[in-house]
Amino acid sequence: MCGIVGYIGCEQAAPILLEGLKRLEYRGYDSAGISIYQETIQTIKTKGRLADLEEKVNQLGGAMGNMGIGHTRWATHGVPSDINSHPHLSQNGRISLVHNGIIENYMELKKFLIEQGRTFVSDTDSEIAAQLFDYYYQGDMVDALIHMIEKIRGSYAFGIMCRDKPDELVAVRKDSPLLVGIGADGNFIGSDIPALLEYTRDYYLLEDNEIVLLKKNEVTVYNLEKNIIKKEIFHVDWDISSAEKGGYDYFMMKEIMEQPEALRKTLFPRITEDGIQLDGVHFTKEDIDAIGRIHIVACGSAWHASVVGKYVIEELTRIPVEVDLASEFRYRNPILNKGDLCVIVSQSGETADTLAALREAKRQGIRVLAIVNVVGSSIAREADDVIYTWAGPEIAVATTKGYTTQLAVMYLIGLYFSYEKGRISKEQLLQYCKALHEIPQGTEKLLVLDERMSQLAKVYAHSKDVFILGRGIDYAAAMESSLKLKEISYIHSEAYAAGELKHGTISLIEDGTLVIAVATQSHLFEKLLSNIKEVKARGAKVIAIAIEGNKDIETVADEVVYIPETENIFTASYNIIPMQLLSYYIAVERGCDVDKPRNLAKSVTVE
Ligand code: G6P
Repeated sequence: MCGIVGYIGCEQAAPILLEGLKRLEYRGYDSAGISIYQETIQTIKTKGRLADLEEKVNQLGGAMGNMGIGHTRWATHGVPSDINSHPHLSQNGRISLVHNGIIENYMELKKFLIEQGRTFVSDTDSEIAAQLFDYYYQGDMVDALIHMIEKIRGSYAFGIMCRDKPDELVAVRKDSPLLVGIGADGNFIGSDIPALLEYTRDYYLLEDNEIVLLKKNEVTVYNLEKNIIKKEIFHVDWDISSAEKGGYDYFMMKEIMEQPEALRKTLFPRITEDGIQLDGVHFTKEDIDAIGRIHIVACGSAWHASVVGKYVIEELTRIPVEVDLASEFRYRNPILNKGDLCVIVSQSGETADTLAALREAKRQGIRVLAIVNVVGSSIAREADDVIYTWAGPEIAVATTKGYTTQLAVMYLIGLYFSYEKGRISKEQLLQYCKALHEIPQGTEKLLVLDERMSQLAKVYAHSKDVFILGRGIDYAAAMESSLKLKEISYIHSEAYAAGELKHGTISLIEDGTLVIAVATQSHLFEKLLSNIKEVKARGAKVIAIAIEGNKDIETVADEVVYIPETENIFTASYNIIPMQLLSYYIAVERGCDVDKPRNLAKSVTVE
């Protein structure tokens, strides 16, 4: 969603802000702007892409100054327009502010400010914050910020400058991401690490309502009582190339190709000669035995990984697993019993609904285990236990390595719990571990399908509808395949439990309709074969995904894509690889912006 960058230091601020904002483009935006301080505040903003903003900055002779704030906006209150873009100024032009989040009581605050004689130019909730800050400002930025957030209800990350303070920038966050970068020649704020990685590897991770005062060579963090808080430096050793395309046309392809490595990092340290070792979680055998039900909660692809997780964990542990969409879970007053475990899954660790679901589980006194990729994110910090998916930064909106590493963690949890509960023997555990250990290499093998998928994409790029069928785990995997295809290529696509075909979907099959049949569950294979025959009889073109060596499928499908042999419960990890590649090439073929699909955002930090 919205992205924030701020800088104060010895360098020119504008290029740093524009560069940082480019790295935040993946979050999704429809307008952008910067404010630069030099004697006064100069603000340049525009509807459209960052290139448009850059052009406007250049037309104005480049904005000179060593302090500034920048923003990419994803419209919530008010249409995308120059006026509604950030930074927002107070009426007197003294304050410039960028905001990510939603101010829930903005109507009430606006009414109050109008009563004080203030007028507004935009339709945004964020402009209220700029005016409110100015209303409270009496010469001390930190005091004004404390007063302001005391009045605001909602979620926010703010970066604020004042015309009277040439060497101060203040920031705060609550339920919306923001971190502080500590540099040698200046200091930064940013919505995430990749935005600042070119400039620093040292960060302060902010807790809700910690207030930061940044100066050129000093950063002070306060609590709401204005006491100084001592923060630990969080050092990241990511290479800058991990936030760049590294020769690929799109981040998505780079990230598809990074999957073997991401899986190695996620799996290998946790697979030992003795079985599974989970860092970051502290479950005794008694804890595991006491779990009556597991609730897995997530959004988007993380929810799809959770559906696969349900099949795997139930199969291995016989603990009942419920899977919920976070946006439903948080409002449906879920029944959580003592001894239940809530597993929260999120790549970014910042998805607003998922974070709210976590809080609902905690409010009901349930233990929360999070599966998260972004270290230090809100979900990681608020959960009782965290297992990280070591996928590295994921930039493309459509997740790839984020999803496959989430699957890997589901397997680890299933096996760990299963063995501790005595449901599988040591020998079985080690057998599963061996198969698990092979997944990165198996994934690598599948990536050579690249060329074939690009050929198939040429044939099917202009399909109107695509149906993806599967049974059991294959059905769960089909959901993610379908999402990949529709989100980046804009082709309508649906995943169907093959057994449900006859209850409606089959009426949509006509001559030439593309059906992708995921047929990797050996015990369900024959049933799926019948479903393939049914759609073939109605004119469908069928691409099947099957286990290496399965020749029967070739008699019914038009094309067969083989995946390496593995345990039935691990096949989802392989099924998705050809589908990621096919979706990617279809999107390219159709001229879509693969990394930034229309209307979508990488990190959905508002409801
Ligand atoms: C957005 C992204 C998806 C992601 C979902 C949940 O919709 O485009 O790729 O699966 O949010 O995000 P999270 O960061 O919580 O996994």
